[in-house]
Amino acid sequence: MRALIGGGTGFVGRHLTKALQENGYKVTKVSRKTGPDTITWKDINKNGIPDDVTAVVNLAGANILNPLKRWNQAYKDEVVSSRVETTKTLANAIVSSKIPPKVFATISGVAIYKPNPTLEYTEDSDVEPYDFLSQLVVDWEQAAKLPESHSCRQVTVRSGVVLGRDGGMIQQLYFPFYLGLGGTIGLRGDQWLPWIHVSDLAGIFMHAINNDNVHGLLNGTAESATNADFTKAFAGALCRPAIFPTPGFVMNIVFGSERAKVVLEGQNVKPRRTLESGYQYKYFDVKSACKNCVS
Ligand SMILES: NC(=O)c1ccc[n+]([C@@H]2O[C@H](COP(=O)([O-])OP(=O)(O)OC[C@H]3O[C@@H](n4cnc5c(N)ncnc54)[C@H](OP(=O)(O)O)[C@@H]3O)[C@@H](O)[C@H]2O)c1
Repeated sequence: MRALIGGGTGFVGRHLTKALQENGYKVTKVSRKTGPDTITWKDINKNGIPDDVTAVVNLAGANILNPLKRWNQAYKDEVVSSRVETTKTLANAIVSSKIPPKVFATISGVAIYKPNPTLEYTEDSDVEPYDFLSQLVVDWEQAAKLPESHSCRQVTVRSGVVLGRDGGMIQQLYFPFYLGLGGTIGLRGDQWLPWIHVSDLAGIFMHAINNDNVHGLLNGTAESATNADFTKAFAGALCRPAIFPTPGFVMNIVFGSERAKVVLEGQNVKPRRTLESGYQYKYFDVKSACKNCVS
């Protein structure tokens, strides 16, 4: 069995690669750069996907919350094309392949759900783009769609913020929290923080790849938590106080208001279809996830 993973070199991609290899898959990454067990996007455009591939996954995407990148039009274009164009490239290659893979699994985001303090969202909630990031998710999911009659099974995982020791938000927060300088984002931290542990995100992709009955949208989130719940759990796991909130205006200055929203506002996203499909979480509550991230 062989899996092809766009963005397989990244934080989530490394965890999924390990999980696939433990399940007997050979893994080929699709990257902008050449490397071992890697083909480039140009190779895919030129030669299509290799004939022996049974599962195709796309996790590619330029980091939205990179504080070193200014939120200008050029970067917004890169954020969009690194997700939408890579997904389209793989979808087109699947449609043109002589021996199609059994499953095409792609990632997207919970920014498709409009932040709201009281609403609960599931995969069945109506969604409509309301800003740049929600429009991005709509276009990203649309890019993944194969013709309805196609034999390849499709799954899209709408991921929350991914927690894990070796990447994403935890990597950025680890040292400030370790030094006792952590705190909520926004003064109260009462905004929802839809989150998932990276082992579970990789686990949901494995579940989607291995089970023929899994298809369509799955929310990649765990138990609901606010930013304050996460802050308490993470600082608690490190045995540190968390008394220094980062005010919203600082986030707006560093990131610009359009993307600072990702952390200043949040959605309460329930993984209803994920649970109904039989996926069993390793870390469903934020305390156990944070404990693992510092262990
Ligand atoms: N981490 C989170 O909290 C989170 C939350 C929700 C959704 N997601 C989504 O999950 C996916 C994986 O996230 P991650 O945390 O693993 O990200 P990551 O560590 O930054 O890795 C993303 C991968 O995307 C590729 N990439 C970056 N810029 C690109 C560009 N301009 N064009 C084409 N490819 C590019 C890179 O592959 P190469 O350098 O090998 O080309 C990289 O390995 C992303 O699509 C992200 O939007 C992540």
